[in-house]
Amino acid sequence: MKDSNFLKEMNARHLWHPMAHPADMQAHPPTIITEAHGVRIVDIDGHEVVDGVGGLWNVNLGFSCEPIIAAISAQLHRLPYYSAFRGTTNDVLIECAEALHAFFAPDGLTRSFFTSGGGDSVETALRLARQYHKLRGQEGRTKFLSLKKGYHGTHFGAASVNGNANFRTAYEPLLPGCFHTPAPYTYRNPFNETGPEKLAQLCLQAIEDEIAFQGAKTIAAFIMEPVLGAGGVIPPHHSFMPGVRDICDRHGILLIADEVITAFGRTGDWTGSRHWGVKPDMMTTAKAITNGYFPFGAVMIADKVAEVFENDTTGAASIGHGYTYSGHPVGAAAAVACLAETERLDVATNAGERGRQLYQGLQALAAKYDIVGDVRGGHGLMCAMELVSDRAAKTPIDKASIAALQEETYKAGAMVRVSGNNVIMSPPLVLTAADVDIILGALDKGFAAI
Ligand SMILES: Cc1ncc(COP(=O)(O)O)c(C=O)c1O
Repeated sequence: MKDSNFLKEMNARHLWHPMAHPADMQAHPPTIITEAHGVRIVDIDGHEVVDGVGGLWNVNLGFSCEPIIAAISAQLHRLPYYSAFRGTTNDVLIECAEALHAFFAPDGLTRSFFTSGGGDSVETALRLARQYHKLRGQEGRTKFLSLKKGYHGTHFGAASVNGNANFRTAYEPLLPGCFHTPAPYTYRNPFNETGPEKLAQLCLQAIEDEIAFQGAKTIAAFIMEPVLGAGGVIPPHHSFMPGVRDICDRHGILLIADEVITAFGRTGDWTGSRHWGVKPDMMTTAKAITNGYFPFGAVMIADKVAEVFENDTTGAASIGHGYTYSGHPVGAAAAVACLAETERLDVATNAGERGRQLYQGLQALAAKYDIVGDVRGGHGLMCAMELVSDRAAKTPIDKASIAALQEETYKAGAMVRVSGNNVIMSPPLVLTAADVDIILGALDKGFAAI
């Protein structure tokens, strides 16, 4: 392997990274990860840490999941690619759709449309929502509603429903007809409401108000994450998502659950929607569907939506949308093996237990260090700490300090993610109690160091 400094120099010269300033690579070269096993990653200097990020919310089963590796390898030898556009399919893809059907049956989702990632899944769901209404003669239903702080990817469609200016401003104008309502984010919200239940009611009312303002008959779908992830891990009160379901039903609006992060056990339940007792009309998935080993995703579709398409006799339900890699056989093979392992290891139960341990540990750190303004979690293995320089004023901590915390935590044995003034944790769902202690201990050392 090439020398670390040489690689960093080449990285700065020839590589642009997502969500990074290209000119920053020289001053702050990224860590070069060269190996991973179990729940640990190893960098080019041989430093090994517990991965508190789980790749990017996707490596739920850790880095050494042999059944998935074997399934990918065997599939590459047997049928490395064939198209799933009209006219052909492949055996493992059908097997995958069957497995997903069984997995998502309790969510009322019965059909799959395959994609190559989360943003693709969101784009697909938004398009299918518009087409669904057109098929029912409601051509006027074209708008989308979503939550501020929500994250749905960076395709133009996805970015348009994103609720964070960082992913929007440089690329505007985005898709017209997308509107955002306040997130049930107790730490900061326009109502200055800190009670989760009261805030949920206020946020639901804001949705009602926006629908009344736009006109219900102009709205195609509401898209939301059951627990907001990239926006800083924002779990709503348990009444919120059922409340959104109810509003959507009363106004003929489709509910799309964006479960690119939350599906497959992360919340401590098999899906985030199930966690809140909600059946969405469509669900977007990706990431942990293959444990991050292959770029793959699926939009899961409920009968109510599917039947409108399948009963069409005019030809208008033909789906003019899809990707070269929609239904990739290697992705499908990875997903089939991944799903079997996900269930066999019962990772949702471990996510619930280890999630509680992590959340309690973070609360203890908040009691020790004043710069922790808020700790969020309590729903599986997705937690965040929001850092502030002044607790009373809730002033977000400066970039340099949070970067220093991340670096010191890494030196002390754990990789955590920084997003704005949030430290985010989404480790593999198979980590042990001892691994959680390592993350907490490393953070403690990180805080002490800064
Ligand atoms: C909820 C949610 N939706 C969509 C996406 C976009 O997925 P991708 O990056 O695979 O396009 C993400 C990515 O983190 C996500 O968290």
